[in-house]
Amino acid sequence: MDIFRNKAELQNKITQLKQNNYSIGFVPTMGALHEGHISLVRCCNKENDITLVSIFVNPAQFNDREDYEKYPRDVQKDIDWLKEFNCDIVFNPSETEMYPEPDNRTFDFGDLDKILEGYYRPGHFNGVAKVVSKLFDYVHPHKAYFGEKDFQQLAVIRQLTKEENMEIEIVGCPIVREEDGLAMSSRNKRLNSEERKNAVEISRFLFESREKKDEMNVEGLKNWVKDQLNKNVYINVEYFDIVNEKDLKPVHSWSESKDIRGVIAAWVGNIRLIDNIKYE
Ligand code: PAF
Repeated sequence: MDIFRNKAELQNKITQLKQNNYSIGFVPTMGALHEGHISLVRCCNKENDITLVSIFVNPAQFNDREDYEKYPRDVQKDIDWLKEFNCDIVFNPSETEMYPEPDNRTFDFGDLDKILEGYYRPGHFNGVAKVVSKLFDYVHPHKAYFGEKDFQQLAVIRQLTKEENMEIEIVGCPIVREEDGLAMSSRNKRLNSEERKNAVEISRFLFESREKKDEMNVEGLKNWVKDQLNKNVYINVEYFDIVNEKDLKPVHSWSESKDIRGVIAAWVGNIRLIDNIKYE
């Protein structure tokens, strides 16, 4: 496995590979890898000759400095793990390598980056777009893989590639869950044991809401999920919305679309977790 910290070296390698007609699959990450990332690596391995994983904790996408500083980091462990799962190339740049000068670009995603996560984390998706557009520009992969846990991020990245006319296929991969149902996230590592025990309620009530869907209208179900979760003293729901998967705008009745998703952000103690569920 090759490890590059420098983008010029990475680009040389990519050019050589492309000259030899290798297909390149790309999994961008912020490290602190878990089974969710590994599922992306597995999928990427199956569909491409070369699997490239980037590890970079992107300061531009954190609107809370403390969250950035406390974001778990263990690059050596990540690298060891990636070797085991047949990753071919790791790109692990420094902050000055990624941002040699300030990046003042502003992306326009219409409403998409202003609702839900975008509303509660202003500037977050602009920061994601900054780093992903740079990475895509260095690598120009054939395919890039993102988890559906960050459902809105996936939509933003699809729009980014469309707007910038990048010929990259964006592949969304299903959420990977812990045995008890909690969606895997690098942030789970920061929960203490009581918080961890209670965090599972988020996925539990999302799954239960799927069972209850035929008994309630959209508004009723939204309130039911929020009420159930807010009864737990460890949990504070920031939002729970039921939206059209296409544009992430709220739906008002179940018949409005076939592709409806419940999306949630909730605080468990000081840790903010997100999750989502498809309503069939
Ligand atoms: O999903 C993530 O881990 C990050 O937002 C990404 C896509 C690697 C950009 O920093």
